[in-house]
Amino acid sequence: MNKACERFRPIWIDHQSDVVKVIDQRALPHEQIDMELNSVEQVIFAIKEMVVRGAPLIGVTGAYGIFVALKNDKYNGDETYIKNEAKKIINARPTAVNLSWGVNRMLTAVLSEKNSFQRVDIARQVAGEIAEEEVENSKNIGQHGVKLIEEIAREKPGKPVNILTHCNAGSLACIEYGTATAPIYAAWEMGINVHVWVDETRPLNQGARLTAWELGKSGVPHTVITDNAGGHLMQHNMVDMVIVGTDRSTYTGDVANKIGTYLKALAAKDNNIPFYVALPSSTFDWTIRDGVADIPIEVRDPDEVRYIPGAPKSHDHLLMPENSPAANYAFDVTPARLVTAFITERGVCRANEADVKQLFPEKK
Ligand code: MRU
Repeated sequence: MNKACERFRPIWIDHQSDVVKVIDQRALPHEQIDMELNSVEQVIFAIKEMVVRGAPLIGVTGAYGIFVALKNDKYNGDETYIKNEAKKIINARPTAVNLSWGVNRMLTAVLSEKNSFQRVDIARQVAGEIAEEEVENSKNIGQHGVKLIEEIAREKPGKPVNILTHCNAGSLACIEYGTATAPIYAAWEMGINVHVWVDETRPLNQGARLTAWELGKSGVPHTVITDNAGGHLMQHNMVDMVIVGTDRSTYTGDVANKIGTYLKALAAKDNNIPFYVALPSSTFDWTIRDGVADIPIEVRDPDEVRYIPGAPKSHDHLLMPENSPAANYAFDVTPARLVTAFITERGVCRANEADVKQLFPEKK
């Protein structure tokens, strides 16, 4: 047994001031800074600029955005105001379906009440419930996913189970346990010998900056690698399994995740290595059948590719010739055929329509 892993709350309400606060993830791992979200503009800024990021956290932040909007309501409960604010929040980032899921769930809850003071109370309560549900979902993902790690550990006694992950699907991206990291934390706490290959995840380096920081805090053995190293490691039996998170998965099994995930899935397939995707039900899109054709892929500022951030921020370095154009596709879609299984809060299932709907029969 190892000691319990450290779990973070990247968003919370300061109960004395009734203000929503978040960890500013742009500053990690060099500094830990909190930021207050006092207006819808600040909520949108936080989501767009990736002060907060990761699908479940974006969903929870969007939910708290409705609370913030209602606190600032100067229109005496006019529904047009809150619906417009909701639309603006949903448009902050396009790929993670959790954002519209969280905001729409809040709209349904608050608009069922006519009194604007009570709406604020409902919003505070429901956003909190959504956050708690994500904690519970992640915990259950960990309990289901750890069995897959245990199976591999049994096959190689005395040797570490090598798990490759991409981007950050940990406490910071979700709440407390993470999704891709939840089975890893559970395995580590049980005393299973694990080692994590952490893809650096250019251009914003969520793997190198955030996943490595989280794993390090809990003492989980890990090594940061360049994004292009995974295929080589897989060819040389240095990876036993891949576990990644997702921003939006179709009910047919296609998976949108951080750019570069698809290449990892291809390499895993070629080397017969299981490729798992861990997700809470809030990340399923029940309306899209063909992920490659229809999941919206965010294209971000090319400067994120052109410059490598330093610590402090003023030490950003230009990587390429001043006038070379750059393109910044933030996500890609891994087709279902490359996904070994989904790890959800309800259990593990194959990435196809029949198996997903069997686990979530209410979505039929
Ligand atoms: O651009 P980001 O940092 O928001 O992208 C995050 C990811 O790609 C994560 O893997 C995904 O949101 C899953 S988090 C459980």
